[in-house]
Amino acid sequence: MTAIARKICLIGDFGVGKTSLIRQFVDRQFSDQYLSTVGVKISKKMVETVQLLIWDIEGQTKFKSISSSYLQGAKGAIIVGDATRRETLEQLAIHTEHFLSVNPKGQLAIAINKSDLIDREILEKALEQYGQQYTIYLTSAKTGENVDRLFQELAHSLIG
Ligand code: GTP
Repeated sequence: MTAIARKICLIGDFGVGKTSLIRQFVDRQFSDQYLSTVGVKISKKMVETVQLLIWDIEGQTKFKSISSSYLQGAKGAIIVGDATRRETLEQLAIHTEHFLSVNPKGQLAIAINKSDLIDREILEKALEQYGQQYTIYLTSAKTGENVDRLFQELAHSLIG
């Protein structure tokens, strides 16, 4: 069977763990070092019959927002927040809207990352708040919790 290529983007504020989630999924590696992504980096991974082209996009800061041109042509996105930084969770809706304004039919998954660093109870509360409309995954790029599920389920929704 020939593989179909599908672009997905990881979007979120700076330092939430976008690069780390991709490294865990693609290379099964994690590093405590923080090397901020500049621009965009693209990784590839086969999931079933889908060749995922995973765009790791420089995180949003107060001074720099995410360029719409990076989002064009994406069939899906993972919107990432950091469980330890509330302000990054408040941005999830804004990133979601931005992605959908460029790709109205795009598939979405939301990841609240760094679950290894925070109390289960606080996480459950965050889930209640953000989990109404989209599937939310509590992930840890460090332990690998829910990382495969996150990417695989999104990839699955892109078939067909
Ligand atoms: P930008 O490229 O600046 O947007 O950052 P990013 O979202 O790609 O974040 P990155 O993956 O570089 O991670 C930022 C820091 O958080 C690094 O020091 C990582 O080691 C750490 N980190 C990422 N994910 C996790 C996690 O799940 N658990 C823990 N404990 N640390 C994490």
